[in-house]
Amino acid sequence: MEFWGFSTSIWSIILHLFLLISASSGLGGGQLDKLALLALKAEMNDTLGILSSWNESLPVCKWPGIHCSRKHPRVTVLDLQSRQLKGHLSYHIRNLSFLRVLNLQNNSFSQFIPKEIGSLSKLQVLNLGKNNLIGEIPACFGNLSFLHMLSVEQNKLVGAIPSSIGKLKSLTFLALGTNYLTGTIPSSIYNLSSIKHISVLGNQLHGTLPFGLGLSIFPKLETFHFHMNQFSGEIPITITNATHISEFGILQNNFTGKVPSMARMPNLSSVEMDDNNLGYGADDLGFVSSLVNSTKLELLGFSGNKFQGVLPESISNLSTKLKAIRLGRNQIRGSIPIGIGNLINLGILGLETNLLTGPIPSSIGKLHKLYNLFLNDNQLSGTIPSSLGNLTSLSRLVLSSNKLQGGIPRSLGECNNLLVLVLSQNNLSGFIPPEILSLSSLSQVLDLSSNHFTGPISIEVGRLENLVALDVSENKLSGLIPTCLQSCRRLATLHLEGNFLQGMLPYDSFQSMRGIEYLDLSRNKLSGKINAVEGLPFLHYLNLSFNDFDGAVPTEGVFQNTSAFSIIGNTRVCGGIPSLRLPRCISNESNNSEEESIPKVKIIISIACGGIIVIIVLCIVLIIRSRKALCLLHFHQLRKALVKSTSRSSSLGVSHLKVSYGDLLKATNGFSSQNLIGSGSFGSVYRGILHQEERIVAVKVLNLQSSRESFIAECETLKSMRHRNLVKLLTACASIDFKGNDFKALVYQFMMNGSLEEWLHSSADRLPGAPFVQGYLNLIQRVYIAIDIATALDYMHNFFHKPIVHCDLKPSNILLDNDMNACVGDFGLARYLPNPLHAHESAPSAIMGSIGYTAPEYGMGSPVSTYGDVYSFGILLLELFTGKRPTADMFTDGLNLHNYVLLTLPECVKEIYDPVLLQSKEHSTIINAKMSNRNHIHNDQRQRVEECLVSIARIGVACSVELPKARMKIGAVLSELRLIRDVLTGTKMPRKHMIKPIM
Ligand SMILES: *[C@@H]1O[C@H](CO)[C@@H](O)[C@H](O)[C@H]1NC(C)=O
Repeated sequence: MEFWGFSTSIWSIILHLFLLISASSGLGGGQLDKLALLALKAEMNDTLGILSSWNESLPVCKWPGIHCSRKHPRVTVLDLQSRQLKGHLSYHIRNLSFLRVLNLQNNSFSQFIPKEIGSLSKLQVLNLGKNNLIGEIPACFGNLSFLHMLSVEQNKLVGAIPSSIGKLKSLTFLALGTNYLTGTIPSSIYNLSSIKHISVLGNQLHGTLPFGLGLSIFPKLETFHFHMNQFSGEIPITITNATHISEFGILQNNFTGKVPSMARMPNLSSVEMDDNNLGYGADDLGFVSSLVNSTKLELLGFSGNKFQGVLPESISNLSTKLKAIRLGRNQIRGSIPIGIGNLINLGILGLETNLLTGPIPSSIGKLHKLYNLFLNDNQLSGTIPSSLGNLTSLSRLVLSSNKLQGGIPRSLGECNNLLVLVLSQNNLSGFIPPEILSLSSLSQVLDLSSNHFTGPISIEVGRLENLVALDVSENKLSGLIPTCLQSCRRLATLHLEGNFLQGMLPYDSFQSMRGIEYLDLSRNKLSGKINAVEGLPFLHYLNLSFNDFDGAVPTEGVFQNTSAFSIIGNTRVCGGIPSLRLPRCISNESNNSEEESIPKVKIIISIACGGIIVIIVLCIVLIIRSRKALCLLHFHQLRKALVKSTSRSSSLGVSHLKVSYGDLLKATNGFSSQNLIGSGSFGSVYRGILHQEERIVAVKVLNLQSSRESFIAECETLKSMRHRNLVKLLTACASIDFKGNDFKALVYQFMMNGSLEEWLHSSADRLPGAPFVQGYLNLIQRVYIAIDIATALDYMHNFFHKPIVHCDLKPSNILLDNDMNACVGDFGLARYLPNPLHAHESAPSAIMGSIGYTAPEYGMGSPVSTYGDVYSFGILLLELFTGKRPTADMFTDGLNLHNYVLLTLPECVKEIYDPVLLQSKEHSTIINAKMSNRNHIHNDQRQRVEECLVSIARIGVACSVELPKARMKIGAVLSELRLIRDVLTGTKMPRKHMIKPIM
């Protein structure tokens, strides 16, 4: 009776009388409801046929989903929740004017909410949640003054929350969550003093929480769900007074500052504050202790904030009803209290990515219901307690990136519900217990990488039949790859790299891993043929580098794409796709006679050509030696001719630019010491300004004694080579100075940023005229420089019409332009190789490069070769990243830069990097995961950078091995470096994608 309302309007009274009369006669109002319902039915898409009994055979009040008032046959309840109804909600709904409950929750109504609902003035419950409604929340809802429950959650509603909802004084339940609502919460809503339950989660709302919340605002508050919006500011202190509250959720917003005491919340069952910016310093975990009075607490989440306090002992005294504690990704200090074992109902314990120290208390073994235990990325020490074997419900155990030592307790083999086991990046050692490899429940990840495990991989590994990702890389595992891996048919990712595994790849095992996508076997001692990993249909990453494989590299599948696989550091392989530039496989295996005959012909032709060329070159060398070289004659004639014709001096025809001795004298301020930017045995280099061209140039004046050959070599070489990573020779000048002496100079494009030498080493010994070098090169810059140098070498060795060997690669010969592009300069010692196709070597030469960078075989009279340049490049690369010269005093008694780096691989590589490099700003932002609530991303980045550092060191080492033919090819170097660049700049996924545990 009360909901009929005592309207004062005469119209209302008349209407009521009319309705009473109609009700008693069985006509009118009831008929109106029936017609309205039939109209509603007509516009709904009733897939289950629920509404088929809405017909004449039954009275309206008996129709399914309908309830009528006991006093008269008017429809008061329309409850069609979860009936899989689709279509449109007709405006005929407004005719159900006695409706008190309208529940259409969990259907698929689409389109707009009909404004007519606003005329159902008796409505107390309106639930349109879990549909596909679009448009805005109608402002006319504010007219439904008896409404005590309003839900439109889980629709596709947009726009702001209408402030008219603040007129609904009886409202106790307001659910607007999971829509696309924007703007702030209208202040009128905060005047609704009856509200007990409010949820606006999962919208795009912003603003702050009002002071008074829990006290004067929503004094009866029980559940508060403001998750996943953009709310900010502090949590009002008045929340302390919300003594009825049971659920408080503000997860994923931008709240900051202190969390108020929750000491007076006896009904509290869940507190979720994860992923905000909460926390204010050393004692910001005080609220945890205040929760000890909340004896109904089941869920406590404050992960992903900025809490810095010490983990309070009192966490052990929280409610034993607790099912989940999430406090990972903060900066929480202290150790894990032993009393944690009291919380016997705990299913989730997430303490990951904090600064926790001390041991893992063995009392955790008492938490029999635990299924997720995340303690990774802390500084936990000691051993893994064997009591963890009692946790038979455990499905995810992640202890990676700590300082744990000792072996893996065999008892872990009892955890036979384990899906994920990650113990990587600790100091764990010993054999991998067969019990662990027998855990056939492991179906997602088994990651034991980056520890010190020894011994063979036991045959039990075959029991991991359901496992998708196995990683035992970077350990000290030895022996063969077990054939029983063949049972691991679901493996998609397999990491075995960085161990001492040997022997051949078991063919059947790999062939049965049909789903394998990612396979890394690099840096082992594996040998034999590669065909075991051929033809795997989903393989898109394959790393076989630095093993001892031999034979043909396949060309199909993953082997088609050089960025998807790596074979470097295997010196006995051949074939493959052409861009690998591996030697051709010369064998009888080819069964294609046509293919066979063509290479033979080619070989014969090339041998013949090669022979002729060698003979010609030898002749030339002999002639030059006899100091009657054709070119010299030519040169002298040319000079004489030019001297005659110009009566002053000459330029060689390198470019149109012609300069005289006088021009250069003027340009360099009379070769003044102010302009001197470098000097050496070859002569001196001056900075100068050529006035006729108005350009800055570098003028290299060659010594009279030693420079004739190199002048010719450099002129000849640079004249014909054009590459963006080679210095540009503008012109050359062969003339007689004003005293009548021979004068030879080369004029280069001036390189604004000087030489690499100046960037790498202290500027103390810098010459006065040298460019001003400030700061240092960061990691990315160094990678780019390495790529530039390798590109230049690749061009010279492989793409120039006749291969050229530089013979004097060192940092002082690498010049940097305005944009820090590196160019290789000083071709004074450069040599042509006789045959572009087959010979890597030229005739023996006595010419030496610079101490420290020259390949060792040159000292023993070996001929000049591209291998020699690769050696110099390797040393240069190691110097570039370590900042150590190969000639440093520390390198004595057999220790050289190569060994020095080799000995640190892979774990300690970071130790030998140029300290400047690890301090630099750009790098540290990558490497030292700036603390934020997205730590895992930074960790990922840090790992990525560290992998790159290791790769760079490996390349340097692989280029500078003693045996010339074992050195990496410059083309392979280049593609590796490019890959590193892409990983560092984020344009390619890192090679190793760890599966992140999700709570
Ligand atoms: C609100 O809580 C504070 C702290 O517990 C208390 O001192 C104060 O009396 C409370 N106010 C009211 C009105 O309950």
